[in-house]
Amino acid sequence: MDYKTYFRNYPDKDGRFGEYGGILVPDELIPVFHEIAKAYNSICRSAQFISELRRIRKEFQGRPTPVYHCERLSRKVDGAQIYLKREDLNHTGAHKLNHCMGEGLLAKFMGKKRLIAETGAGQHGVALATAAAYFGLECEIHMGEVDIIKQAPNVTRMKILGAKVVPVSHGLKTLKEAVDSAFESYLKSYKESIYCIGSALGPHPFPVMVRDFQMCVGIEARQQFLEMTGIMPDMVCACVGGGSNAAGMFSAFLDDPVELCGVEPLGTGSALGEHAASMTFGTKGILHGFESMLLQNADGSPAPVYSIASGLDYPGVGPEHAFWNQQGRVNYAAITDEEAVDAFFKLSRYEGIIPALESSHAIAYAMKRAKEMETGAILVNCSGRGDKDVDYVVEHYGYGEKYK
Ligand SMILES: Cc1ncc(COP(=O)(O)O)c(C=O)c1O
Repeated sequence: MDYKTYFRNYPDKDGRFGEYGGILVPDELIPVFHEIAKAYNSICRSAQFISELRRIRKEFQGRPTPVYHCERLSRKVDGAQIYLKREDLNHTGAHKLNHCMGEGLLAKFMGKKRLIAETGAGQHGVALATAAAYFGLECEIHMGEVDIIKQAPNVTRMKILGAKVVPVSHGLKTLKEAVDSAFESYLKSYKESIYCIGSALGPHPFPVMVRDFQMCVGIEARQQFLEMTGIMPDMVCACVGGGSNAAGMFSAFLDDPVELCGVEPLGTGSALGEHAASMTFGTKGILHGFESMLLQNADGSPAPVYSIASGLDYPGVGPEHAFWNQQGRVNYAAITDEEAVDAFFKLSRYEGIIPALESSHAIAYAMKRAKEMETGAILVNCSGRGDKDVDYVVEHYGYGEKYK
C-alpha cells in the first residue's frame, strides 16, 4: 500500500476503509449522516474553519503539547528509550478535546443547538461539555452507572460545565450501553442536535472526521521528536479503545519506516467477558452503524467486555484500525489490568506523571518492548492524565507498594 496517496483514496465515497466502515443505519437516517458528511467536507477545506480551529488549539487548548523523554523510567526499564507525547497536558486532561472542539465548530456551522454523546472514562464527556460551554451550546452526555461511580470526578466536572448527565442502567451499564442510549436520544432529536461520537468509530463521516481532528497529535509529535533527536522513533504506540488517539498519532507516521502498535485491554484474561481486545480476539461484524472487528457472542450480539480502564471498555474498534491491521501496517497487542496498574505506578514514581489508566496500557506495552529491544526509541501517546483514576486505584491497589 502506498501511504503517500492513502488520504486521497480512503475512506471511499461510501465511507469505507476497504471492507470496513460505511453508513449502516436505518434507511431514514442515511440522509442525516450524508448531511453531516457534506457539511464536514465543505467546512474542513474552508480557510476560516482551519484558522479558527488553529486559534482554538493554541489559545484555548494550550497546544502544541510537548514530547518528553522519560530518562528515569527508561533507566529503570533498561532498554530502548521511552518518550511521551503529553496529551495529558491538553486542556481538560486528555486528547478528547481535539475532536470535541472540531465537532463543536461543525455544530455551530450546521446551526445545531445541542451536542449529544456517550462517555466511558468521562474524558470525552468533560471535553464535549467544555466545547459546549465554549460555543454556547446545550450538552447531553450518556454514561453507564458503573462508570458514573468509577469516574466520579469527571461526572462532577461535566455537571459544573453545565452538561446534563444521563445515567444508563441497562446491560453492563458501561460504554456500549452508553452509546446505545446516546444514539436513541439522537434519533429523536437529530434536527436540532448533533451526535458527537467519542472516538474514531460510528457511521461515516465520524471515523474520518475524528481521525482528522486528532491528527494534530501525530503531526506535532513527529516534528517534535525529529527536532529533539534528529531521527525517527523505532516504534510508536498508543492505547486503543475506539481508536481516536491512536488514529491521530499513527496517521502522521504511516509513510515512515516506523513500527506502529495499537494497545488493547486484556483485562483479567483471554476468555470472552474478561477483556475488551476487539482486534486481538474479534471477528468482523456490525455495531452502532459501522462494520469493523467486534467481540461477539455466537449469535452475533455484542459480547460482554471488561477493562479496568472505562475508556477502553468497548466491544468494537474504529474501522480504519481494522483496515490498517488487515493491510499489515499496524500491529495490535494487549495488556492486562495488572500490567497497566504497574505502568500507572511506575510512570508516577519515576517521572512524576500520573497517567490515565487507558494511557497506562500503552506505557506498559512500551516498557515491555523497550526491555526486549535493548536500544532505540519508543514514542508513546500519553493520551490523558490519571486524576480521574486515583480514588479507584488506591481503593483497589493501595499506594502501589507492590509496584516498585
Ligand atoms: C485518556 C483516554 N485515553 C484513551 C481513551 C480511549 O479512547 P480512544 O481509543 O478513542 O483514544 C480514552 C477514552 O475515554 C481516554 O479517556
